[in-house]
Amino acid sequence: MILLVTGGAGFIGSNFVKHRLSNTDDKIIVLDALTYAGVLYNLKEFLDSSNLLVPSSQRDLRVVEKRLMTNALSFEKIRDDSESKRLSFKLEDFFPRYVETEKIPDEISKVFKDKRVVFVVGNIIDNVLDEQLTKISDIVVHFAAESHVDRSIFNADAFVKTDVYGTYSLLEATRKSQSVKKFIHISTDEVYGQAKDRPFKETDPLNPRNPYSASKAAADRMAYAYYQTYNVPVIMIRPSNNFGPFQYPEKLIPVMTINALKGEMLPVYGDGRQRRDWLYVEDTARAIDLLIEKGKIGEAYNVAGHNERENVFIVERILEITNKPKTLIRHVEDRPGHDVRYLIDDTKIRELGFKQERSFESLFDDTVRWYMQNQQWWEKILKMDEEYTAFMKAWYEMRR
Ligand code: NAD
Ligand code: TYD
Repeated sequence: MILLVTGGAGFIGSNFVKHRLSNTDDKIIVLDALTYAGVLYNLKEFLDSSNLLVPSSQRDLRVVEKRLMTNALSFEKIRDDSESKRLSFKLEDFFPRYVETEKIPDEISKVFKDKRVVFVVGNIIDNVLDEQLTKISDIVVHFAAESHVDRSIFNADAFVKTDVYGTYSLLEATRKSQSVKKFIHISTDEVYGQAKDRPFKETDPLNPRNPYSASKAAADRMAYAYYQTYNVPVIMIRPSNNFGPFQYPEKLIPVMTINALKGEMLPVYGDGRQRRDWLYVEDTARAIDLLIEKGKIGEAYNVAGHNERENVFIVERILEITNKPKTLIRHVEDRPGHDVRYLIDDTKIRELGFKQERSFESLFDDTVRWYMQNQQWWEKILKMDEEYTAFMKAWYEMRR
């Protein structure tokens, strides 16, 4: 099968691509705009200049090149480090091939003769490109989104553009495709809004309370509308908070681990008694596999972690694993509109056969250790990405 995976250079997308390549014979087209959260390094094993394509309809080539350079330079630095000699990347490898958008399907079939992955640097709001890619794909797995709540509170513009308009553009292209059999839309448990004393079911109303979750709720319902109205074969998956390797260092677990390792303060919003239900990223990938195989078209499926923890618990455990003192914890001004709890009932996907394989404790400890052992990965991001650094500085200065 050919899978079109949008957002495949991000956290869950890149874990999913690797999971799928190891467990199936699929060929994968990654479509990713390489925003601040898109890191080519996450897919380093599979990329070189021959399978990195930039379509001509990506008009803002300067932006594309800048992002590629940021990614390439971080590779170059990594390559220079003695222990990373195994990386075969050279800066020259990162000059991608510019291809007429209409010729992209032909180029992809050439690449697929001897490779299983092709990387298209492009934006999902580019409908011409979406049409070219969906017309040669069997399955669409749509991760691409602006994903960080704090950034959406700061400025929701990109959230509406990507999460809402981008999803619409991809659905519209899929509507015209003769080949797509399933469109797995990655939604989130945050679309229900904050939970009180019972877990939400798929039939509960959506009540998002921040610009990120509102844009995701709009996308979720747009996907559903395309099923009802045009019979586009859509399935919505609503996972809870993911954790695991390669999560961008803006979310709770990587931020706290990195700050602990640097001996910097750990900024806990408010009293830190808010709760999240943690789901391992590989389990999300396995849930998507299951829905590709057995999910019913037009339906939404929750995927819970069954590991509900207060934020302070997570932060204290990180300090234990990194062997740092609790005095690093700093309670800072809360996030506005902060959902104190997310909780979902995932009986529906469990009835299809979904279950977790490993305990939260061991997965969590392994994840924290991954950030301890892969310091180079996050250090490059911290050093190279000016946009990220500017946001982090401004956001946390506001909360002191
Ligand atoms: P991420 O921010 O790590 O990655 C997002 C990826 O999408 C990046 O590679 C980025 O470059 C790409 N992208 C952004 N805008 C794009 C555009 N306009 N066109 C093409 N590519 C674009 O996000 P993530 O944490 O991996 O989340 C992936 C998906 O899962 C999102 O849809 C998110 O809403 C959903 N989700 C995430 C979580 C979580 O805990 N991380 C939980 C539930 C659902
Ligand atoms: P986050 O990882 O941003 O995920 P989401 O808000 O989408 O659930 O945050 C998880 C929880 O951790 C949330 O309750 C906010 C809190 N948090 C902090 O207390 N401090 C931080 O610096 C961050 C990034 C999050």
